[in-house]
Amino acid sequence: MAKGKSSTAFFCNECGYESSKWMGQCPACKSWNTLVEEPVVRAAQSGRSGSDRLTAEPTSISKVSAESALRCKTGIAELDRVLGGGIVPGSLVLVGGDPGIGKSTLLLQVCRNLAEGKHKVLYISGEESLAQIKMRAERLGQFTDDLLLLCETDLDVIGQIIKKHRPETVIIDSIQTMFTDSVSSAPGSVSQVREATNTLMNIAKKEQVSVFIVGHVTKEGTVAGPRVLEHMVDTVLYFEGDRFASYRIVRAVKNRFGSTNEIGVFEMRSDGLREVSNPSEYMLSGRPEDAAGSCVVCAMEGTRPMLVEVQALVCRSNFGIPRRQATGTDFNRVNLLMAVLEKRMKLKMAECDAYVNVAGGMKMNEPAIDLGIALAIVSSFENIVIPSDTVAFGEIGLSGEVRSVSLAENRVAEAIKLGFTKIILPASNAKGLDKKNIIPVENLSDAIRAINKKEQG
Ligand code: TYD
Ligand code: MG
Repeated sequence: MAKGKSSTAFFCNECGYESSKWMGQCPACKSWNTLVEEPVVRAAQSGRSGSDRLTAEPTSISKVSAESALRCKTGIAELDRVLGGGIVPGSLVLVGGDPGIGKSTLLLQVCRNLAEGKHKVLYISGEESLAQIKMRAERLGQFTDDLLLLCETDLDVIGQIIKKHRPETVIIDSIQTMFTDSVSSAPGSVSQVREATNTLMNIAKKEQVSVFIVGHVTKEGTVAGPRVLEHMVDTVLYFEGDRFASYRIVRAVKNRFGSTNEIGVFEMRSDGLREVSNPSEYMLSGRPEDAAGSCVVCAMEGTRPMLVEVQALVCRSNFGIPRRQATGTDFNRVNLLMAVLEKRMKLKMAECDAYVNVAGGMKMNEPAIDLGIALAIVSSFENIVIPSDTVAFGEIGLSGEVRSVSLAENRVAEAIKLGFTKIILPASNAKGLDKKNIIPVENLSDAIRAINKKEQG
């Protein structure tokens, strides 16, 4: 145990800024009331020893082997996609998410697949006992002997075990339970989490093991502990989704080895997380037929088109001030679209309550879903049923024009693949597309006419 001059310092919970005295506002990130007092040991701050520095040698770029060949597949295609094509050896991946969302389950499934492929994996839990992990593992299926389990929270012990057993992949569940002796504050505190991550990063880079770290999420939605944690790791994955809905989305918010546009979609089953390779089909299942106020939209999640249903309910308000509510999309955007409909389309919606919901618990904020929201609102207001084979996308401008969006071809292809034959899209996006299934529109009135005409026909 390293001994140094111990004292206390104040750390910002948000950005990790260190100060010798307490302040109400962090001078670095300007957030209020985020400085907490913690003991520090100065000597332990540097993570590298003297002998380590001597071995450092620059390498010419041509001698560095391409990483793509070295990537190791997790056997879960949706996760591989988010990671940018598999696990990079020596990488540090932070997996964050609400409690009970499935972080431990997913990582245990990764362990199972890796162990099946004869990779040596070490799963270290500071939260559950071996029996509890075994119980979970039994629900997930068969495990081979290449998976080693360890219940430990002392990082110095963990470091020695990794050196002894030399696993290819290590899972740390969770970083908030880990501690190192060189910092005297409690596990889960800012300096402890930072030091623990630093230790793990050194192990990962030196031993070329890939390390997955599970991180708890605060009620503000960021990984508990300082923001620097996210700067230190190579990849940050967030688990999203309603704990009450069965689907889960894994999103990369930072990735040194791939794009951050990708998402992976999973469904929680009784036997663990199952991949959803066609999320659109999944999101649209159970959609009501012949109901007014429902419109299918096509939004992009990264490079992936995703069809979801937008529902609207517009009814007379009983109070002076109408109620407006948006679930799964931006409330202000809904208000703006209703103002455009009121002013440009002369629809008297000022006395109406309006509720807009993106079905399935998805969160969508892309402007391309504007047209779908507007049509769903009109559909509910005028009691027009939008035919079930219709899908709409496009951004709406303040004068009621329908503006072009990116990647229109991909959206159209996805809609056709799922059997949609009437695709309402911006006229400026229609160039070069097959005319057969598309309905190009210039503005909102064209789009409303398109859904109206269909009802008569
Ligand atoms: P868990 O992986 O423990 O979440 P985290 O580690 O993110 O806190 O997931 C626990 C939840 O998943 C729990 O509510 C039960 C559910 N679950 C299933 O529905 N099926 C399963 O096969 C497993 C293992 C868990
Ligand atoms: Mg867990």
